[in-house]
Amino acid sequence: MQRQRIRMVAGNWKMNTDYEQGRDLAQEVVRKLQPSDVHVVMAPPFTHLKNVGNITNGISNVSIAAQNCHEQTAGAYTGEISIAMLQSVGVKYVILGHSERRQYFGESDELIGKKVKAVLAGGMVPIFCCGEPLEVREAGNHEAYVADQLKNSLFDLSEEDFKKIILAYEPIWAIGTGKTASPEQAQEMHKAIRTQVQKKYGEDTSMRQVILYGGSCKPGNAKELFAQADVDGGLIGGASLKSDDFIAIVESFPED
Ligand code: PGA
Repeated sequence: MQRQRIRMVAGNWKMNTDYEQGRDLAQEVVRKLQPSDVHVVMAPPFTHLKNVGNITNGISNVSIAAQNCHEQTAGAYTGEISIAMLQSVGVKYVILGHSERRQYFGESDELIGKKVKAVLAGGMVPIFCCGEPLEVREAGNHEAYVADQLKNSLFDLSEEDFKKIILAYEPIWAIGTGKTASPEQAQEMHKAIRTQVQKKYGEDTSMRQVILYGGSCKPGNAKELFAQADVDGGLIGGASLKSDDFIAIVESFPED
């Protein structure tokens, strides 16, 4: 049977690596990568995008992503990066709504929704992050919390636009903490997210929706996570900074 969804592993380098370290890391990843149909994405800091893009250029399953963007097209927004700037260096994906952006930079569901629309209008693909903090999980409200994030930022999109988006479920309590969601917890939430998509956009769109897992995903747990029916890959922070670890994660999908 033809697979309905692409498989993807995206490395979010966050605010790590200087220019040369970034170049070396990208070169190592490209050198060690075996041919496969897994979509491999690297999201380096803005200053490295052009160079990492040059390194990955011509490899059909490898793309570059930005970690953020501004929602306005241009103007007096000192320190910000526009959609056109990202387009001009060959960016394909933009990570939006990462919990660190929400937490440290006060990004609201509404603002993230605007950024999603700006990225789509610019012909790039948002990787939209959602996920609950620990106290919400402990209170048992995680499904409702994530459903609200989807509704508030995404569910006013047309079906045609929504279909272009990649979703990433990243429980905040698992990000950078070494605590991973168990495969069962990840599967439960990915299924719940798919159900929300199905309710809003129908069965066909929901079955085609790519949903990545993020939060302390590493070589030791990626196989179990990627074996879950509704987990289509990973958004990788810490482990994307070591080429061997990142490649091992890329190679963690079950055989067809
Ligand atoms: P982590 O980060 O893999 O270091 O937990 C994941 C993320 O924030 O995307």
